[in-house]
Amino acid sequence: MLVVALAPNFDDPGEEVLEALRAELRCLGAALLLIGTDHSFCFRPDDELVEEPSTDELRLWAAQLFRAQGVESEALTPETLLLGLLDDGGSLRWHTRRELDGDPSLALLEAARLAAKSALAPAPIGVLSRREVVLTSLIGALSLVLLEGCKRSEPQRPAPSASAVSSLAPAPFEREVTLNVNDKDYRLSIEPRVSVLDALRERLGLTGTKKGCDHGQCGACTVLLDGRRVNACLLLAVMVGKRKLTTIEGLAGPAELHPLQEAFVAHDALQCGYCTPGQIVSALGLLREKRATSAEAIREHMSGNLCRCGAYPNIVKAIEAARDAGGDALPARAT
Ligand code: FES
Ligand code: FES
Repeated sequence: MLVVALAPNFDDPGEEVLEALRAELRCLGAALLLIGTDHSFCFRPDDELVEEPSTDELRLWAAQLFRAQGVESEALTPETLLLGLLDDGGSLRWHTRRELDGDPSLALLEAARLAAKSALAPAPIGVLSRREVVLTSLIGALSLVLLEGCKRSEPQRPAPSASAVSSLAPAPFEREVTLNVNDKDYRLSIEPRVSVLDALRERLGLTGTKKGCDHGQCGACTVLLDGRRVNACLLLAVMVGKRKLTTIEGLAGPAELHPLQEAFVAHDALQCGYCTPGQIVSALGLLREKRATSAEAIREHMSGNLCRCGAYPNIVKAIEAARDAGGDALPARAT
């Protein structure tokens, strides 16, 4: 589940409101995607607020979601906050609209509380069918293509890299993006709803990044975005832009493992290994944040990465060993 909020720009809401928001998001088992005019924020209950640049495509995608729920175009004003619950099938199952005549952060919190309450209630009669939403999404995606078409009068972009993985023209509901993964450019034609996780695994064949919950709750899909850890299942590929993604495949050198990988092997920090790529990439992000100051701090800041085999004690030891060996460097090609 994802909470999608479309709103004018927010200032930092302050720790008190953030903490209250975390509680609502935990209750929903969801992350928040707050799309503003200039900036967007991705916010997981167990993490800090991550700021991203906002894009026309993202705003248009969100606007289409709300229009599919019958929200009139006139409601999409700078004075209005729209917040909805996007379910696992990609349907907006509930939404609310708030006028922003007071503190926008409080309006956001109030809307999130209503969302948490609505999640406990049975689905309302008259919710749009999956087919209707898919149809509307296609219309929205087609709008993106038209929007791109309008921009074609701008100077031509540089030619795609030699590593382009698809030379096919995009289908009408797809758009072209270039993902920089492990310092290599990949050109893709994808629908706006495709996550970075699915793009990596299903389009680029980079299956080292694992899909566990696909909900932002297990950390198996952790990758680095410009050196900061993010859940690839919660990030849309069209949001990445020119930023650099680093996956588990990008850590080892041609002849040697990354110090964190060596430490995981040396300390036997895995059993089935399914969570291990996410644990290692997350640990690298943690070491770069300089927050691995103690075993307790490591446990706290790695709490978003679950291990069903319970290998936690050795994972902590491995991270301590890598920290002591100065293992916080990104591979040279990904810096
Ligand atoms: S698969 Fe992304 S957090 Fe679980
Ligand atoms: S080693 Fe099996 S899930 Fe972590």
